[in-house]
Amino acid sequence: MSNMKIGLIGAGKVGTSLGNYFSQKGLSVSGYYSKSSSSSLRSAKLTGSSFFEDLDSLLKASEIIFITTGDDAIDVVVNILQESPYLNKNHILVHTSGALSSDIFEPMEKLGCGVCSLHPIMTFSEVTTPVKDLEVTKFTLEGNTNGKDEIQKILKITNNQFFIINKDSKILYHAAACVLSNYMVTLIDSGFEMLKKSGIDQDEISNAFLPLITATLSNVQKMGTVNALTGPIVRGDENTISKHMDAIENTMPEMLSFYQTMGIATLNMIKDKRIDSVKYQKLMNIVLKGEKNEK
Ligand SMILES: NC(=O)c1ccc[n+]([C@@H]2O[C@H](COP(=O)([O-])OP(=O)(O)OC[C@H]3O[C@@H](n4cnc5c(N)ncnc54)[C@H](OP(=O)(O)O)[C@@H]3O)[C@@H](O)[C@H]2O)c1
Repeated sequence: MSNMKIGLIGAGKVGTSLGNYFSQKGLSVSGYYSKSSSSSLRSAKLTGSSFFEDLDSLLKASEIIFITTGDDAIDVVVNILQESPYLNKNHILVHTSGALSSDIFEPMEKLGCGVCSLHPIMTFSEVTTPVKDLEVTKFTLEGNTNGKDEIQKILKITNNQFFIINKDSKILYHAAACVLSNYMVTLIDSGFEMLKKSGIDQDEISNAFLPLITATLSNVQKMGTVNALTGPIVRGDENTISKHMDAIENTMPEMLSFYQTMGIATLNMIKDKRIDSVKYQKLMNIVLKGEKNEK
C-alpha cells in the first residue's frame, strides 16, 4: 500500500475528481493549492483533505505533487516550485496534460525528482466525476523511471489499466483524443443543425436521435469501425449520396466541405474491405463532384 501523500495544485475538474478518487481508493491525499482559495477550499472539503495557502505548505505536506492546472499554467507552477526551498529530490512531480510531456519537469528531474505525465483517457466536465467513471478509465503515462514506478504503484492500488506512451508522440496522441471526444461533440452538433434546418422540432432532436448515436457507438464497440458502418456509402447508393450533396448545397452550403471530408474518410475506411475499387472510385467521383460545383 502506497502511503505517499498526494498534494494537488489546481483544484479544478481533473484535480478534484482525481483527488476524490484517490482518497476513495484508500490513498493518502494531503490537500489542495489553487489560484483561488475558494476552489482549493471547496476541493479540500469535497475530499476531506487540507487547504494550502501557498505552494511551500503543499510541498512540505506532500511527496507526490500533481499539477492539475490548465496546460498553460503548468510551466508557471513549475517555475515557482523550483524556487522553493522545500522542493527536494524525494518529490515526485506529475501533470495530467495529454498534450505535454514530462519534459516540462526538466528542472525537477535535474534535482533528482521522479517525473511523470499521466493522462486519464476520460472527459471531466465537473469537479465531482463519479468514482465509477474513474474505475473504468484507462491512463497513458511516460516519465523517468522513478516517476513511472511511483505512478504505476498508485494505478495498481486503484486498479486502473495504463499504457506507456512515447513522449514524442504525445501531441499526435492528444490530437486523436480531441478528434474522438471534442470533435464527436461537434459532429453531433453539426447533425443537430442539419436536422433543425430540415424542420424537425428543436426540442425533439436530442431525444429522437440520441438512441441512434448510442446504438452506433455500441455497434462500433461490438464489431469495430469498418463493420459497424451502415448507410448509403457502404450500400453504394450513388443517387442518394448525390441528392444529399444537392440538398446540402442548396440549404446549408457551408456544410458541403464537411460532408465531403467525412465522405472521403468513410470511403477510404471501407475501400477493399466492404466495397471494391471500382465502386470506391465511382462514389469518390460523386463525393468530389460537389467540390467542383462549389468553385
Ligand atoms: N477536463 C478534461 O476532460 C481533461 C481530461 C484529461 C486531462 N485533462 C488535463 O487536466 C488538466 C486540468 O484540466 P481541467 O479540465 O481540470 O481544468 P480546470 O477545470 O480549468 O482546472 C484547472 C484549475 O487550476 C487552477 N489554476 C489555474 N492556474 C493556476 C495556477 N497558476 N496555480 C494554481 N492553480 C491554478 C484553476 O483556477 P482556480 O483556482 O481559480 O479555480 C482551476 O481550478 C489540464 O492539463 C488538462 O489538459 C483534462
